[in-house]
Amino acid sequence: MSDAVFEIDPDIRLARTLPARVYSDPDLFRAQRDSVFARTWQYAAHDDLVKVPGQVFPFTLLPGALDEPLVLTRDLSDQIRCLSNVCTHRGTVVVEGAGHEQQLRCRYHGRRFTLDGRFHSMPEFEETKDFPSPADDLPQVGLGAWERFLMVSLAPAMPFEEAVAPMRARLAGLPFNALVYDAAGAREYLVNANWALYMDNYLEGFHIPYVHSSLAATLDYGEYAVELERYLVLQLAIAKPGEAAFALPPSHRDHARSIGAYYFWIFPTTMFNIYPWGVSVNVVTPLAVDRTRVSFLPFVWDGAKRETGAGAGLDRVEREDEAIVEAVQRGVRSRLYERGRYSPAREGGVHHFHRLLAEFMQSR
Ligand code: FES
Ligand SMILES: [Fe+2]
Repeated sequence: MSDAVFEIDPDIRLARTLPARVYSDPDLFRAQRDSVFARTWQYAAHDDLVKVPGQVFPFTLLPGALDEPLVLTRDLSDQIRCLSNVCTHRGTVVVEGAGHEQQLRCRYHGRRFTLDGRFHSMPEFEETKDFPSPADDLPQVGLGAWERFLMVSLAPAMPFEEAVAPMRARLAGLPFNALVYDAAGAREYLVNANWALYMDNYLEGFHIPYVHSSLAATLDYGEYAVELERYLVLQLAIAKPGEAAFALPPSHRDHARSIGAYYFWIFPTTMFNIYPWGVSVNVVTPLAVDRTRVSFLPFVWDGAKRETGAGAGLDRVEREDEAIVEAVQRGVRSRLYERGRYSPAREGGVHHFHRLLAEFMQSR
């Protein structure tokens, strides 16, 4: 397939949307593993999972797309690390479950690593030459923290700070230290659609009056705003009079606006939705070309505001989104549809995402 297929005109007034094949061709999905997912920052965990030195938390990065076994540790000098969770001897997974450890010990032949990933010891290797070497340490994986949230990248194409700086600046001063994870309120959805269709839908408020009647009742559609950054899109949901909104100090640039929600998206798969009640982290896991898992992880700083305004009824809104996105997946397989055009007034976020996806898929 020629690169030209992925060209998205930088001028949204001239541009055509992504070719339908990007959403339905298994070869293109496979190519995205290295060209997109391995090179970008993905949500990993919140820092409570590695709260004290010695705590370890193994996880698989993007199961279905990257399937990379990783482990978060807090080492004895109180540093959080992300390490490969694959033993440097013969390649078994080292840490099988979350817990507290002095060292990481491989249960296959007893190789030990310190919590910062360095090789520590190994039985029966006295006669092995040039051993140990740095190649026997567990590889370190790129790790970044925004407030309480940890993101990782195998081979980042951009520094973490470049990806998150606009969000860090915009939300400084909100009470992130008070956040409590609401495990009972977490939800997982399986969507029969390509991950990028789910993102397209997330990145525009255009469909809100058509698809989300309950949400639309709380928002001022005319004031809905989109801001584009290099690797990030911010959508601002402006509350109707009387609906829940942030009370921001006079020094804050959004003080004069009645913000019902900040919807931050970090290219390609992570969303931080900030509501007056707290943060809903939405994580998209691309499982296959036409299957996507979406996780909603709620972190609460003001439980009394939970079911108010744009932050209310999130389960209903998600089901409405799922139904429409699954309908798009059926449509993009059509022999009679190739690509569309954008609304410059309403689809700047979708256009920005398509430009990023085109950029990354070309630079394989
Ligand atoms: S595979 Fe880990 S010690 Fe052999
Ligand atoms: Fe929606």
